[in-house]
Amino acid sequence: MPCELKPRFLVLYGSQKGQAQSIAEGIADEAEERGLFADICCLSEGDKFNLEKESYPVVFVVSTTGDGDPPDTAQKFVKRIKKKTLPSDLYAHLCYAFLALGDTNYADFCNCGKTIDSRLQDLGAKHFYATGHADDGVGLELVLDPWLEGLWEAIRGALSKMAAPHVVSDRKSASLTRSLPPLSELALNVPALSPPYLDVTLQENTIEEEVGCLSLIFVPISRAVQLTRDDSVKTALLIEMDISSHPMTYQPGDSLDVLCPNRGSEVGELLHRLGLEDQKSNRVQLSLRKETKKKTAQIPSYIPENSTLHYLLTWCLEIRTVAKKAFLRSLVECTGDRGEKRRLQELCSKQGSADYNLYVRDPNLGILDLLRAFPACQPPLSLLIEHLPKLQPRPYSAASSSLRHPGRLHFVFNVIEFPACTGRPVGWRGLCTGWLSDLVDPILVRPGKAQSSSTPALPKVSRGNCSFRLPSDLSKPFIMIGPGTGVAPFIGFLQQREKEREENPEAEFSETWLFFGCRHRDRDFLFREELQGFVANGTLTHLKVSFSRDTPEGTETQSETGPTYVQHNLLSHAKDVINLLLQENGYLYVCGDAKNMAKDVNDTLIEMLSAELQLDKLDAMNRLAGLREEKRYLQDIWS
Ligand code: 2AM
Repeated sequence: MPCELKPRFLVLYGSQKGQAQSIAEGIADEAEERGLFADICCLSEGDKFNLEKESYPVVFVVSTTGDGDPPDTAQKFVKRIKKKTLPSDLYAHLCYAFLALGDTNYADFCNCGKTIDSRLQDLGAKHFYATGHADDGVGLELVLDPWLEGLWEAIRGALSKMAAPHVVSDRKSASLTRSLPPLSELALNVPALSPPYLDVTLQENTIEEEVGCLSLIFVPISRAVQLTRDDSVKTALLIEMDISSHPMTYQPGDSLDVLCPNRGSEVGELLHRLGLEDQKSNRVQLSLRKETKKKTAQIPSYIPENSTLHYLLTWCLEIRTVAKKAFLRSLVECTGDRGEKRRLQELCSKQGSADYNLYVRDPNLGILDLLRAFPACQPPLSLLIEHLPKLQPRPYSAASSSLRHPGRLHFVFNVIEFPACTGRPVGWRGLCTGWLSDLVDPILVRPGKAQSSSTPALPKVSRGNCSFRLPSDLSKPFIMIGPGTGVAPFIGFLQQREKEREENPEAEFSETWLFFGCRHRDRDFLFREELQGFVANGTLTHLKVSFSRDTPEGTETQSETGPTYVQHNLLSHAKDVINLLLQENGYLYVCGDAKNMAKDVNDTLIEMLSAELQLDKLDAMNRLAGLREEKRYLQDIWS
């Protein structure tokens, strides 16, 4: 039952003598080797692709023939997209890369490619990679080779920004369950099996009440608001909790831990696969095996005594955790199917490392995904308890100040949607954000819609981290950088500052800067009115917003300026920012995505320090490290 789990893109070619076609086919083949999946079509096969609905990156390879004419296979397509009546945002959703082939010995070099390329942009499509113009007159490879070399990183970048989940195709040539090219059984370098150390028995349940975890409190949700418009790629929600009857205090910048249960459908499926559906209400008794030699073996402390099996799988174990190689190794012993055994051995072996990364680690495959792909596999419950980690609470930054909202705590998040892959439904959502969004659905206030009244939901929460705090000295300036939901703690900071200003009208307050970034001014500008209010009443001295997907005024297309991110705005205010930080001993806060944004902002800060202070890169890095040590450069970032 082979299944695909590869990010997809589309390759379209228009070829006269076969050169563009063969380059396009080369790209599609290489995609496979790189763990991606490419659909490939000729531009003449208009019934096989639909650019108006295409939600994945598209790579065009198009040649020119005669004196700048389209190849025969592209003529219809060119005619169609040249129509003046087409709406100017027809392809606004489309991102693409273009390789135009031509020959400078003839008139109108690459004319067909250039025509299609510019028409696509007129219709709103955006480049994810610079167009290549390869010249057969001097040798295509001069442009072709470097263009192809850079293409893969660009495709991965484009895929990671895609709105739609990366999907899966039914091509069966490579898959999680497909074996490596034949290797001798002996050649596989499989890790040793770690012997089980837990004995698990299930006792019939005689105790009435459900076992609970005492360190967490249930807190009612009093309000939930969708902050983004329905047509935004990401959905951001704000949740307000009523903490008035709980002994819970917080400062802006603190975080809150939310414990969410595993999804009922996933727990049910797991019980079914373990063959334990009938025993889900039984109490789980755990003991260490007498013969175990594992020195560190112990009964997991996070499983309360007398938990029911259902409770254990719902509240204690991270059942979506990525299956480690040791787990795959143990699964080898749990299937009677020779093909499955072999494939599991391969995936956990040294030789199968690339496949493990590609098919298990990168798409975050968990135990359920694996059990779906290996249907004969039936692990015992003890194996799950030994291998699955504790279900961790998820931290969220407080997005409010209790001075402004007494007895209330706000937090904000994007509802995470994962790429689809093996057996997973499209629209598979993050565990906690998916659960929270279901939980608040009955009371959710959406843009332009009235609030419906319903009973508040009750998640389990506890106080989290608290190291991201406003400067205690009111006269110190601070700069906040928080694109997307990274703005959350800064809303709390500004509410606090606003209230402090109201209460101390005589006091001197410092400058405050916020660099915010989102895709579109009208769709996902979170807290827009509130931020503008802070500017209007002087709480926020400078609000700098960058829109990464809106066409900047005065330009025809976004691609003329490239995407605009917070760090681009930061760079254009380098003098002020460096001055506030170094001359006025200010503070700099960064909140949001760790992998890209925080790293790029960090690099930009180094660049700014280096340019403003005439330092070489190493010295600039040291200056920044100094600010970090003084706790004047603080990050609250996540990946
Ligand atoms: P994008 O989605 O258009 O790429 C909030 O998510 C904002 O942060 C979005 O506008 C997003 O742009 C932007 N963003 C994405 N990658 C970024 C990066 N490396 N640095 C700064 N902002 C980034």
